[in-house]
Amino acid sequence: MKKRVLVSGGAGYIGSHVTVELIAAGYEVVVADNMSNCDMTCFEGVKKITGRDDIPFEKIDCCDPAAVDKLFSDYAIDAVIHFAAFKAVGESVAEPLKYYRNNLLSFLNILEAAKSHSGCNVLFSSSATVYGEAETLPVTESTPRMPATSPYGNTKQMSEDILRDVVFATAKYDGKDGQWPVKGIALRYFNPMGAHPSALIGELPRGVPNNLVPFITQTAIGKRECLSIFGNDYPTADGTCLRDYIDVVDLAKAHVAAVSRMVEGKMKEDYEIFNIGTGRPVSVYELVTAFEKVNGLKLNYKFAPRRPGDVVAIWADTSLANKELGWKAERTLEQTLASAWAWEKHLAENA
Ligand code: UD1
Repeated sequence: MKKRVLVSGGAGYIGSHVTVELIAAGYEVVVADNMSNCDMTCFEGVKKITGRDDIPFEKIDCCDPAAVDKLFSDYAIDAVIHFAAFKAVGESVAEPLKYYRNNLLSFLNILEAAKSHSGCNVLFSSSATVYGEAETLPVTESTPRMPATSPYGNTKQMSEDILRDVVFATAKYDGKDGQWPVKGIALRYFNPMGAHPSALIGELPRGVPNNLVPFITQTAIGKRECLSIFGNDYPTADGTCLRDYIDVVDLAKAHVAAVSRMVEGKMKEDYEIFNIGTGRPVSVYELVTAFEKVNGLKLNYKFAPRRPGDVVAIWADTSLANKELGWKAERTLEQTLASAWAWEKHLAENA
């Protein structure tokens, strides 16, 4: 029997890529999304790429405990990947309650349902943001987490801890009183970017993008006038920040590896954490010039003051994920930047 994975937030950017890779690897997928930050574009794209018109889609809000519990009762779920969360760092600073309420409540409901249903593993989408301004680079999973610099980052740190505590507390359960053990993995993503090679799914920011790559592609297509590079006086070789940009398809494949590890009983600990990045630091300026070169265009950009809250540099030590998940980022920076541009053009052609 095929294993079934619930993907909460599965109609969004990363969730849609993960759904494609799970189906390619032979999993059944149930997508749940409240559509608060996306439309059906990516879910329709997923159906085209997979040739599957019958992927169950449930429009629910994970903040509703009864709706989440019903989902787990309606489908036999072997693993849940929890993406359903708000993710705009700046907005989280302006509206912390919105972020704490949504991001924590939805995860609590997922965990509550997971422990009430037998054999359900939980994969949490965490972020490199949990490291804050790390003292040593690259960061390993045991690099101490620094205080979060935003409520968004705080929800990632808190959710990791909640998952760890639930895993620990439920380890002794045996199904009596309807309580079951939960195993968990947190994947700490570095900077996801790019789109599926088909250009049928990709990042679809609402309004002005906060993240670098959608801002670059929207500037290139003429939706934005000029890209601001935030800060060129950082203590780095070219003065701009360093990040670890991970291709979204590579990232999606890491989820398949982690889910397989959980459902096949291969975890070494009941709660595990993996960095998901490339291990390669790239500066903002390098990324911009690589985008120009690979796509044969000139980008209108200027240097602007530093953006508050940005860390100077962060990149991953990925050896644990490479060894334990048998996973490695494969796509080149150039392939990924070409895919991001192909997706932006696809959107323009289909507008
Ligand atoms: C942020 C979040 C991270 C999240 C990621 C993807 C924090 C501190 N960071 O990462 O958790 O996983 O988004 O959603 O919580 N830049 C420009 N011009 C722009 C936009 C960005 O120069 O118009 C620069 C930034 O200053 C930064 C780099 O590009 O140096 C990457 O920025 P961004 O894409 O927003 O990601 P992060 O802030 O690294």
